[in-house]
Amino acid sequence: MAVRKIIRMGHPNLRHTAAEVPSTSIGSDELSRLIDDMIDTLHDYGGIGLAAPQIDEPLRLAIIEIPGGPSRYGDLTPLPLTTFINPNIEVLNQDSAGFWEGCLSVPGLRGYVERPQHIRVDYTTVENQSATLELQGFCATVFQHEFDHLDGKLYIDHIKDRTKLVFEEEYIRYWAEESND
Ligand code: NI
Repeated sequence: MAVRKIIRMGHPNLRHTAAEVPSTSIGSDELSRLIDDMIDTLHDYGGIGLAAPQIDEPLRLAIIEIPGGPSRYGDLTPLPLTTFINPNIEVLNQDSAGFWEGCLSVPGLRGYVERPQHIRVDYTTVENQSATLELQGFCATVFQHEFDHLDGKLYIDHIKDRTKLVFEEEYIRYWAEESND
């Protein structure tokens, strides 16, 4: 098991555009080891997604794992741990909704971000197959957040109302009861 260090806001490498994963490296021992490290790291830090640039690997690669069931984001459809190689997002409907987002690279903070809620994701699987997922609601937000990391973007870049960038403790005290709308 190799838990890697997650780099944090301020590290310049979080702000770079990551390179496509070459199709020749998909299935290689090196890429499989990197994905294993990302899984170990996500489980150690705790979270629902991790992009390779967050462990200072400048590749278009991310993992997402959404626990199902009731949550503060509503009743979620679970997504078992999935690896997304060279993902692309197409927005199917511009209608947006906001959620309080957090990020392992921005520890201790939360921010309210509005994003489109109906997207399609085209990506390559670890078996080097093309795949497509259609996502709505909170899941659409999660995927946009994770894949933003591949373009050097953080959720804080999308916050329109800066009074809604808050510490976690204050989030729980003052904001958690507000409904997500
Ligand atoms: Ni993040």
